[in-house]
Amino acid sequence: MISLASVEQVEALLEEHGYIAERSLCTAVFLALRLERPLFLEGEAGVGKTEIAKTLANALSRPLLRLQCYEGIDRQTALYDWNYARQLLHIRLREAGRVDQGDMGWEKRVEDEVYSERFLLRRPLLQAISTTPAPVLLIDEVDRSDAEFEAFLLELLAEFQVTIPELGTIRASEKPLVILTSNRTRELHDALKRRCLYYWIDYPTIEKEMRIVTAHVPGLAQALTHSLCLFIQRLREEPLYKVPGLAETIYFAQALEALNVRVLDEAVLRDTMGCLLKYRDDLELLTGESGRSRVANLLAKV
Ligand SMILES: Nc1ncnc2c1ncn2[C@@H]1O[C@H](COP(=O)(O)OP(=O)(O)OP(=O)(O)O)[C@@H](O)[C@H]1O
Ligand SMILES: [Mg+2]
Repeated sequence: MISLASVEQVEALLEEHGYIAERSLCTAVFLALRLERPLFLEGEAGVGKTEIAKTLANALSRPLLRLQCYEGIDRQTALYDWNYARQLLHIRLREAGRVDQGDMGWEKRVEDEVYSERFLLRRPLLQAISTTPAPVLLIDEVDRSDAEFEAFLLELLAEFQVTIPELGTIRASEKPLVILTSNRTRELHDALKRRCLYYWIDYPTIEKEMRIVTAHVPGLAQALTHSLCLFIQRLREEPLYKVPGLAETIYFAQALEALNVRVLDEAVLRDTMGCLLKYRDDLELLTGESGRSRVANLLAKV
């Protein structure tokens, strides 16, 4: 397994795999690895929270296990369940082949069989503590789960072990690198936050955004990359319902490349605004009556 000796190494490895990160974020990653602490990432949509977990798994040659949280997610979906259909089938087959009706130990034996590893469905959290090499465990959008599930996560992250009544206790031999993300649709409890290193990923600076665009769309001329990033930075200051994130910047850059655009002007923007804005009200704000002067204003600063 690849181990990282310094913050600089984290920075270089991430960049090598296409993820551009500030030093402070690299420091948080380094500490999460070194101190074996979960890393809790918050930030607006599309700033690179999910992507860093994927990149780290790839860069560290570790398996990625992803638990996508949602309202109502429970232990069975997150941790383990029994394969009831296969268990039933197994019992039927055993019944069919049963020879001695007077065999008193039969039921107990079949019960032991159906509650064995063979019939266990390992969900991401159980996989995370029983996989080697230690994986990267991404617990994505944890703010969507409810408080009860959060309490259960807290327990798991404290111990990295799970007790399955029928099988016993399973404990991680190496701790996975845990990355939790949240869009802050609700605040998480202090108890969970206390277990983690916390990092807020902000919208990127112009320099960072340009580096990301260059990494994703290397064919785009530097001057155009500069003006499109500057335009998006200014656009984020407008009173939009949904501010464009990095995913939108990348789509936009790809669109400009595909259309062979050389200069960012009003006509180009009018035709490609759908790459950046995904709500009618936001589009209206820039393309409606007063929109023209807004766009002209934004372009004048580019
Ligand atoms: N620092 C970065 N370096 C390179 N690419 C990045 C970076 N941050 C984001 N991206 C790109 O932007 C896209 C959006 O990032 P990602 O899906 O990780 O956002 P997110 O914060 O998880 O958003 P959401 O809250 O909507 O899930 C990714 O597909 C990735 O390609
Ligand atoms: Mg995400």
